[in-house]
Amino acid sequence: MQLRQKDILDMDSLSTVEIELILDTAAGMKEISLRPIKKVPTLRGKTVILFFYEPSTRTRTSFDIAAKRLSADSLSISAKTSSLVKGETLIDTARNLEAMNPDILVIRHSSAGVPHLLGRTMAASVINAGDGMHAHPTQTLLDLMTVKEKKGRIQGLRLAIIGDIAHSRVARSDIVGFTKMGAEVTVCAPPTMIPAGINALGASVTHRIEEAIDGADVIMMLRIQLERQKDYLFSTVREYAKYFGLNVRRLQKARDDVLIMHPGPMNRGVEIASEIADGPYSIILDQVTNGVAVRMALLYLVAGGVRHADSD
Ligand code: CP
Repeated sequence: MQLRQKDILDMDSLSTVEIELILDTAAGMKEISLRPIKKVPTLRGKTVILFFYEPSTRTRTSFDIAAKRLSADSLSISAKTSSLVKGETLIDTARNLEAMNPDILVIRHSSAGVPHLLGRTMAASVINAGDGMHAHPTQTLLDLMTVKEKKGRIQGLRLAIIGDIAHSRVARSDIVGFTKMGAEVTVCAPPTMIPAGINALGASVTHRIEEAIDGADVIMMLRIQLERQKDYLFSTVREYAKYFGLNVRRLQKARDDVLIMHPGPMNRGVEIASEIADGPYSIILDQVTNGVAVRMALLYLVAGGVRHADSD
């Protein structure tokens, strides 16, 4: 089976069958990273460009590792080192990259919709590595993979997402992805961090963290964007931590088998206490490990899903 579209732009455009296909493919890919020689020839001869306009540790590195483990030729360019700084438009940049015949372009951009624009402009497959406050589908796919691996299912689980929902592309994609796969999602934040219309995506809303934690199978903490304090979204970091931070006292009220997630980067001691981030319920580093497997699966599937004869 193959994906219907050439691009991976958001969770809305993936069907449940396609999501299952990606997760199953990723589960199969994971073993490659445990081998002494972590490389298969599956994407030999394919070219993957990683174009990141915003900083990234996890996403960029895991895409690069994923491409290399599949034997694709991958290269990274950033806004600062490209001719964008000389005034070249994004579309002209894309056309010039396209003229070099890449197979896949992975793009992160601060403006929502840029991956969609490039997907329409380019013959290469475009994968959204995060666009503005809109979507981060590959993060959601690795979150789904990690929860499914730990719980054996997504259907019927209760996910609480706590933090700055309004400015989070992870929250938007996770609400769409987890509800599509049958989970119940509750979001929790101060009213200034809950966007209008969030219920239309299928999430319930609470402003009390105790209510969000109560009965949740999975708790996803989001980074507080400290630079937003000047926008008066919260009064002080200390007050935010007091009312919305996940600490040991609050975690005692959670289920015994709760899973704690965070997409990173974390503000330790603000949205999440260090004892929890590094504690027994945390699956934060499992998320990062699965990021490589999910991105290997995506590169493989958008490239046509055809295994090289000697790929195993
Ligand atoms: N989760 C995530 O997107 O992390 P990076 O910004 O480090 O890629």
